[in-house]
Amino acid sequence: MGKYDFDNVPDRHNTGSLKYDYGLKRMGRSDLMPMWVADMDFPLPKEILARIKDRTDHGIFGYTEPGDSYYRVLGQWFKERYGTDFLEEANTLTPGVVFAIAAAIRAFSEKGEKVLICEPVYYPFRETIEDNGRVVVSSNLSERNGHYEIDFEDFEKKASDPAVKLFVLCNPHNPVGRVYTREELTRIADICLKNDVIVMSDEIHCDFIYKGVTFTSFLSLDEKYTDNAIVCTSPGKTFNLAGLQLANIQIPNKRLRLAFRKEKAAAGYSQANTLGITATEAAYELGGEYLDELLAYLEGNLDYMSQFFAKEIPGLRLIRPEGTYLVWVDFSRVASTREEMRSIVLDGAKLWLDEGGIFGKGFELFERFNIACTREFLRTALESLRDAVSIHKKGGR
Ligand SMILES: Cc1ncc(COP(=O)(O)O)c(C=O)c1O
Repeated sequence: MGKYDFDNVPDRHNTGSLKYDYGLKRMGRSDLMPMWVADMDFPLPKEILARIKDRTDHGIFGYTEPGDSYYRVLGQWFKERYGTDFLEEANTLTPGVVFAIAAAIRAFSEKGEKVLICEPVYYPFRETIEDNGRVVVSSNLSERNGHYEIDFEDFEKKASDPAVKLFVLCNPHNPVGRVYTREELTRIADICLKNDVIVMSDEIHCDFIYKGVTFTSFLSLDEKYTDNAIVCTSPGKTFNLAGLQLANIQIPNKRLRLAFRKEKAAAGYSQANTLGITATEAAYELGGEYLDELLAYLEGNLDYMSQFFAKEIPGLRLIRPEGTYLVWVDFSRVASTREEMRSIVLDGAKLWLDEGGIFGKGFELFERFNIACTREFLRTALESLRDAVSIHKKGGR
């Protein structure tokens, strides 16, 4: 047993938790086990909490900026783990990655122009583009034997449309779990540079990488490519700090950085959340060992789920992720319509998952599972799913 206990977690009901407390409002029922939004069930380790408590004990929460130690600590994290620089000069703080994507869309395209994405992908990409009056162009990922890839021929064709100004990359890719290789990233970077398409690389899941896989940050590519890029990271997923609202946006190129900052200012945002700054610095400084143990636990959950499916629910096809705690599952062998899938998942198993259809057209018979929960919770959920699939097969529902 390690230093941290991931098997015993506090009850999250009645804490205003989006994941746990909004079943009735969002789904019309309160009997579902939540495995949807990318939010983990584990509390922060005591040493990080102590820093946050020290800060609250001070009692004053006026406008705050990160200090030199913030840049030293984050610089060390990204250098040691991914070999990349995290520079104060290149950094802009935002209240989240989605906020930054919205700001970049406005900074680098005009209304009616196009933004490229690769669906299935984290659904706020499409929403944010459309909500800002831009047009989504998707170069859908192609799948071969459970492995998703960029269809480079199609990607290049779409990127070469002069109306496409920005490509929003998701690496690691939510929901399919791909962690792109240096070769793939270089190819993406090259196509985008040739076609005057700026790359916004959302690397929010970069700290969740499974054994045998290497994460390559867009920032580690050749300077001519990083000069055309905006790279987003955040402690929101790694340390489950989403509610403290802080993301770090690295933009090496000065012209792009100033244009981005102008949009951020136009949205009326200046200083970041005070406790977000304290928690972020403390987490990256003290959370290395915690994250390593957490990753081993999550990989245990993934192995458990994968073996459970193979043995008990062979009709479901699990796409094994290379990174992220999100698992993409194909229901098409047990359900032929969205309604049928819903009846298995919601009515039968009583699980609250994210339906594939929200990630892009053509993925309606997939579901995304969030496995950042205790093994016990996962076991209960999977047993319930197994029983629901089996009753469904017998025509019980
Ligand atoms: C790929 C990706 N980007 C961004 C976010 C949200 O980031 P934020 O809360 O910082 O806006 C998520 C959350 O699930 C995500 O999966």
